[in-house]
Amino acid sequence: MSNQYAIDVHNLNKSFGGIRAVHDLSLSIGYGEIFGFLGPNGSGKTTSIRMMCGLLTPDSGEGTCLGYNILTESNQIKRHVGYMTQKFSMWEDLTVWENLNFVACMYGIKDRKQRIELTIEQLGLYDRSSQLVKELSGGWKQRMALAACMLHDPKLLLLDEPTAGVDPKARRDFWEQLYELASKGISILVSTHYMDEAERCHKVAYIFNGELMAQGSASEVIANQGISTFAIQGGNLIVLAEFLKDKRGVDQTLLFGNTLHVSGHNKALLEETLSSLRREDAKWQINSIETSLEDVFIHLMESRNRAAI
Ligand SMILES: Nc1ncnc2c1ncn2[C@@H]1O[C@H](COP(=O)(O)OP(=O)(O)OP(=O)(O)O)[C@@H](O)[C@H]1O
Ligand SMILES: [Mg+2]
Repeated sequence: MSNQYAIDVHNLNKSFGGIRAVHDLSLSIGYGEIFGFLGPNGSGKTTSIRMMCGLLTPDSGEGTCLGYNILTESNQIKRHVGYMTQKFSMWEDLTVWENLNFVACMYGIKDRKQRIELTIEQLGLYDRSSQLVKELSGGWKQRMALAACMLHDPKLLLLDEPTAGVDPKARRDFWEQLYELASKGISILVSTHYMDEAERCHKVAYIFNGELMAQGSASEVIANQGISTFAIQGGNLIVLAEFLKDKRGVDQTLLFGNTLHVSGHNKALLEETLSSLRREDAKWQINSIETSLEDVFIHLMESRNRAAI
């Protein structure tokens, strides 16, 4: 283990009341990297994040966060890490400025006024600074929460679903901010359920039932699964998905609006099945497409579910 990574953890385990929440999690995040953390509800993202920054002690495993030992140096970690919790935890009856001032006091930040003003400016919160938090929209609340966890000038940000429930424009703006921070060398771990956000990350990891199932750049994660995907349009896709389920070469079907993604490991078999579908009914438009991250994540989850049966 070294100082080479912003986060470098090995074989972290955590159970709650005998139920395993995280199993043998190993993960490394480089400096200046935006690392996306994905997985269904209850898969262990928040638990992992809390262990990685020393807030929760793992049952076993070890690692470093910004070079500090996660088991013994949580105070130092706290000083250099900004953690945006999944649940909004600012004071609704205070203004944006008052909230930031409160947080700055807690951190014992010197030159408090200057630091708050700088953060407000950086995050474009100037026009909202005297507004009560309860009057802000969801997007502005998230932005203020990001400001609060940046006041102490952290080197690493841990953002737990920072854009949940936020509209697409506000999410895009939020991501602009993340890119800007990363370009200044700040490392960012961000958990999300949004695939477009996953695709924006330098690296992603997918966790399911407490186990890390894939890790790497989006293209690596996709390539490692070795599945081929076809997009089908032109008729009742729900009926078609049901029809294709057990056909040769079809590992999975996934509906995206008016397109059905059909994926499988054996491209030749899959093509054969789809060619005969086209021969039987010319209405189907079938095209080979790039496998998406969402296809892969669903595939990882379903293959694990099948293995468990
Ligand atoms: N303090 C706790 N006490 C008991 N069980 C817990 C505790 N924290 C988490 N768990 C359990 O651990 C598992 C993982 O939860 P966790 O919150 O880490 O998942 P998550 O991936 O963050 O989910 P979500 O996407 O819903 O936020 C779940 O089964 C959850 O019920
Ligand atoms: Mg969570």
